[in-house]
Amino acid sequence: MIRHENISLKTYHTFGLEVKARVLVEYESEAELKSLLEEFRGEKILPIGQGSNLLFTHDFDGVVLVSRMHRARALQETKEDVLIEAEGGLVLDELIGQLTDMHLCGLENLSGIPGTVGASAIQNVGAYGVEAKDVISSVRAIAIATGEERIFTPEECRFGYRDSIFKNELRGQYIVTGVTYRLTKDGPYHLDYGNLSEAIEGEPSPETIREAVLRIRAAKLPDVRELGSAGSFFKNPVISSEHFTRLHKQYPQMPYYPQEDGFKIPAAWIIDTLGWKGKREGGAQVYEKQPLVIVNRDNASADDIVRLAAAITASVREQFGIEIHPEVNYI
Ligand code: EPU
Repeated sequence: MIRHENISLKTYHTFGLEVKARVLVEYESEAELKSLLEEFRGEKILPIGQGSNLLFTHDFDGVVLVSRMHRARALQETKEDVLIEAEGGLVLDELIGQLTDMHLCGLENLSGIPGTVGASAIQNVGAYGVEAKDVISSVRAIAIATGEERIFTPEECRFGYRDSIFKNELRGQYIVTGVTYRLTKDGPYHLDYGNLSEAIEGEPSPETIREAVLRIRAAKLPDVRELGSAGSFFKNPVISSEHFTRLHKQYPQMPYYPQEDGFKIPAAWIIDTLGWKGKREGGAQVYEKQPLVIVNRDNASADDIVRLAAAITASVREQFGIEIHPEVNYI
């Protein structure tokens, strides 16, 4: 266990902002976590993994708990699949690298997504037609108030688009310490999204899909080790059929994806159409290659990012009548 007081959070989150936490503790086991929860009971607690989906809007006057639990093991194997239990602090992409080496299928489309195993369940992370929920078999968590362990079934997690019960009814109440994924030995592969199938070199396999996804991502998403960001800043909005029909007349070239409850419109396309690419607010900038991403171009302050995001949201509302919502969590 490593403890810090009044520490800079710059290297503990991917936006790279100069913000501080009153206390930060890195823990390595559930036992350590439980004793920390007991010690800091009643205080403001913020569990984080890689900090890849956070926007610290000011210094954090509480206790940041960073998971350094990063083991993974096979629990059970059948002819078709393998159950893998991974600890919450393991970097998701490291796990996917290991699974690919073992030729296990299911998570390869999520290659290169920043963040941890714990976050994969809380956020139901997704990319290239696959979401974490498609392979999650159970989620292990500890109640912040009592230190009690609980295993959640996928149904109990109430997964949605970048969403789960841990972001809603149970927000701030549990820390995810482990996720069990069901991986298969022989597909099926998901190759329908965008230009993924053309990008694969050779026969589809966890290895070739992982390589293709990493190549596509590198071409248009910033590497958080080089340029601060939190991946997509906004979620893609879903609009009603009436709203869609009106907009489609005005913008016949607008891409869309029919959903059960309306039409999903890529926020990147809207923001691009409104001319935001490359626009700056102080040190914050709309990324030129993928305008859904806001980057810390030059020592951005949290205010720069908040102002830029608010200006984009307002212009989308004004021009398209669409309310877009951040995917990142404002702290
Ligand atoms: N587009 C533009 N201009 C651009 C870029 C994109 O008009 O400069 C339009 C295109 O029509 C394109 C569409 O936006 O087809 C969608 O773009 P993209 O395929 O890059 O996906 P996205 O919807 O912007 C989502 C996820 C990403 C994930 C990609 C690929 C969300 C909020 N974001 O982005 O996830 O990598 O799909 O599956 O759903 C993240 O969550 O942090 C993230 C990076």
